[in-house]
Amino acid sequence: MSVTIFSPAKINLFLAITGRRADGFHNLVSVVAPLDFGDDLEASMVERGTASRFRLDCDAPGIPRDDSNLVLKAAVAFAEATGWPEATGRQGVHFKLKKRIPVGAGLGGGSSNAVAALRAMNTLSGNLVPMEKLAAIAVALGSDCALFLHDVPVTMRGRGEQIEVLPRAALKRLHGRKVLLFKPGFGISTPWAYGRMAAEAPAHYLPAPEAEQRLSRWMAGDDSVSSLLFNNMEDVAFRKFVALPVMIKKLQAGLGVAARMSGSGSTCFALIGEDAKTGGPGGENALVTQMKHLIRQSWGGEAFVQETALI
Ligand code: C5P
Repeated sequence: MSVTIFSPAKINLFLAITGRRADGFHNLVSVVAPLDFGDDLEASMVERGTASRFRLDCDAPGIPRDDSNLVLKAAVAFAEATGWPEATGRQGVHFKLKKRIPVGAGLGGGSSNAVAALRAMNTLSGNLVPMEKLAAIAVALGSDCALFLHDVPVTMRGRGEQIEVLPRAALKRLHGRKVLLFKPGFGISTPWAYGRMAAEAPAHYLPAPEAEQRLSRWMAGDDSVSSLLFNNMEDVAFRKFVALPVMIKKLQAGLGVAARMSGSGSTCFALIGEDAKTGGPGGENALVTQMKHLIRQSWGGEAFVQETALI
């Protein structure tokens, strides 16, 4: 028995870090959208024999396949919470991860893979676990995990565990909106970015009432998606990783395109308007062709560039 789960990347359209908590984590208010781009996780039930319960193969080099991988952490957490698969005999699970989402990217790849593993195990076990319990297991695995239990844009609060699906009108404004993702050859460590914000506190925090006000103003109105875009992690990231603001300025000055960073970076994204002319390679939007050219010209072949859409 085997199941394949799509494990999407995400971008933060709105990310306000509002302050540091007593437990060392940060409170945030965010709008996060899953993307029509991601990894595939195949999970197959196997006879364990003498092998370990859970095994992971991955097609991409540099991805850890040992217990430090969130896929295997998720599998262990699921088994501990449910007693499965011990209860059903000597069966284990063999995971195969087809990796497309870059790491250290602010695209939530590892968190998304963890939730895909939880969903796969739940399916293989005949849906042993209700959604609320799955959410509790997900939250314990990482702050960015719970959002991936929903296949639509959500608001995320607390340290990331408080998730609400956006109201229908807001979902309609976001659905299918095309984006171009672009990431230089380096990643940014999330703990480092939060650490810089804490070290310079409160300079970069946006107080929670202001964050909520900005968000509810956008939700209540009919402003464009671009007027929602915000990320107060950019200050610390851009100061060290100057390639990012330089690229964003080039896109703005040369092509009139507004771009932002996603999460703690290093991926940035630009919304692609439907009004731009088509006619590039494969009918590609002419503006997208120019953007790709500008990015590759500056960041070279190791840059990751991906056109996709909000789910
Ligand atoms: O929860 P997760 O393991 O993804 O978080 C990685 C690190 O990012 C944490 O150890 C913490 O330093 C920082 N973080 C934070 N506040 C959050 C989420 C993450 O300070 N809401």
